This record gives sequence, C-alpha cells and structure tokens, in this order.
Amino acid sequence: MNLFRPTSKALILVVSLGVLTGLSAGCGAETSAPITGGFQDRGRQLFNAKCGTCHVMAQAASQGVQGPNLDTAFAAARAAGLDEDTVKGVVEYQIKHPRPSTSGYPGVSMPADIVTGNDLQDVARYVARYAGVPGARPPIAPGEGPGAQVYANQGCGSCHILAAAESAGVLGPNLDEVIPGMTRAKIEESIVEPDASKSPGYENAVMPNRWSNLPPQELQQLIDFLVASTGNAKAGGKNGG
Ligand code: HEC
Ligand code: HEC
Repeated sequence: MNLFRPTSKALILVVSLGVLTGLSAGCGAETSAPITGGFQDRGRQLFNAKCGTCHVMAQAASQGVQGPNLDTAFAAARAAGLDEDTVKGVVEYQIKHPRPSTSGYPGVSMPADIVTGNDLQDVARYVARYAGVPGARPPIAPGEGPGAQVYANQGCGSCHILAAAESAGVLGPNLDEVIPGMTRAKIEESIVEPDASKSPGYENAVMPNRWSNLPPQELQQLIDFLVASTGNAKAGGKNGG
C-alpha cells in the first residue's frame, strides 16, 4: 500500500479500505439511475443539500469547510488507481459509520445516516464518480448572479418552472407566477420551512424539508435571484419583508 502518499488522511483512508474489502463484494450492481453530474442529478442535489454544507467538492460547487475537502481526500487514492466501486464503498461506509472527528476537525462530528436507502446509494455513487477526479467542474448555471448557481445546485428546478433558470419542473408551483406575489419573508419561509404553509392548489404536494441549514449567504443569494428574475417589486420594496 505504499502507493499512497503517507499523509494522515491517506492513511485513514487505507484503514477504512481494510475494513471494507469484505463488504464491497456484496454491493455490486444496484440502482440504475444514470449519474450525469448535471443539475437534475439526484445524487448531486442530495450532496448539495446534505453534505456540501460541510465539504468542498469541485463538481458540486460546494463550499463547506467543517469537514475535509473531498477532492483532496480522494485524489491520492484515485491517482493510485482505486476504482469507482471501491471509492463508493468507502463513502458509503463513512456515511453509515462516520469515524470520530480527528484533530484536524475539532468539535465537528459527521452525523451517522444523514442519508439512507436509495438516497445513500445515489450520494455515494455521485461522490465516487467525481471526488478527486482531476478536472471535475460544476455545470454552469443558467441565470444571473450567485443565486442562480444556488438554485441550480440545490435542484429547485427539478420541481419548479423558472424561466430565468431554464427550469421546467412541474411538481411544485410555477415560480414565475407565484414569486411576484410573495414577500421576502414568505419566500424564505417557503424554502427553509416548507411545511409551515402550503401554496394554494398544492395542499397535498410536498416540498422536501432539507434546506433549513443552507448557509445564510446562499439563502439570501437564492432569494435575490428569485426576486430579481421574476421582477418582484413587492419583495424589493420597503414593505417587502
Ligand atoms: C456536520 C458536518 C458534516 C456533514 C453534514 C457531512 N460530513 Fe462528512 N465529514 C465531516 C467531518 C468533520 C469529517 C472528518 C472526520 C475526521 O476527522 O476524520 C468527515 C469525513 C468525511 C469523509 C472521509 C474523508 C476522508 O478524509 O477520508 C467522507 C467520504 C465524507 N465525510 C462524506 C460525506 C458525505 C457524502 C456527506 C453527506 C451525506 C457528509 N460527509 C456530510 C463532517 C460532515
Ligand atoms: C421535490 C420537489 C421540490 C423541490 C426540489 C423544491 N420544491 Fe419548492 N415546492 C414544491 C411543492 C410541491 C410546493 C408546494 C407545496 C408547498 O407549498 O409546500 C413548493 C412550494 C414552493 C414555494 C412556495 C410557493 C407558494 O406559492 O407559496 C417556493 C417559493 C418554492 N417552493 C421554492 C423552491 C426553491 C427555491 C427550491 C430549491 C431550494 C425548491 N422550491 C425545491 C416542490 C419542490
């Protein structure tokens, strides 16, 4: 195993791999949803909602620094020829059994089972495809300003129509139609606390409740983008909050 650079991170990875060798055989071919790395990719959306708050990964355009940079964490192993299935096994194992925080990340522990079942499979396959892969880049979001990237990264477009973002999802209300009638506070509540109130006509539809810990700056950028791209004067004005 001396192909690995002898950094502590690489060593930790090797230890995890030892634990895994017996496990990875059992979980060969599973779900079939393709990994595109695009904005509609479920693994990417889940990563951004559940993992990107703590981890940098270039393909996800995520900014979290509470945990290790996942590109850095896997680069050496990749370069040493570790295949995607094995990396997936490592990620899956870490999600199910996060190791206690080491000195590099004092006071922050990765919670166990942040994602389970198919979500776990989708996230692990997504990370395995892109973490530490040289040249991995996020897709460029349509629309203007940093909020356009947040909208795209969080996968809002898979359920909502918004012309500026070129998104055409139909599970939720058309944002070009509803945002102009909403205050900033109401928009914010709809995102971070979607169960607080239901939009008319969507009483039985469910918006996932997974954005309550979106970093405040990204949340404000997202709202700015929604407000600006729909010409919402109400939310821009003095009474808009
Ligand atoms: C609350 C912050 C937090 C969240 C959320 C989080 N992690 Fe972590 N993660 C950490 C910390 C801290 C470590 C480092 C533990 C240590 O000190 O070794 C870590 C370690 C890892 C590692 C091992 C990296 C290495 O160096 O070998 C992987 C892989 C990983 N996380 C993936 C994920 C994935 C995938 C998700 C989402 C399902 C996720 N994490 C969510 C904080 C987090
Ligand atoms: C899996 C589908 C899904 C995703 C992903 C999703 N939404 Fe929704 N959204 C819905 C549904 C369904 C509703 C209507 C039910 C409700 O109000 O809770 C809704 C309601 C809303 C509303 C309230 C509209 C009104 O008339 O009150 C806003 C604003 C909104 N979503 C914005 C977003 C943003 C921004 C994102 C990304 C961070 C997002 N949604 C992600 C399905 C989704």
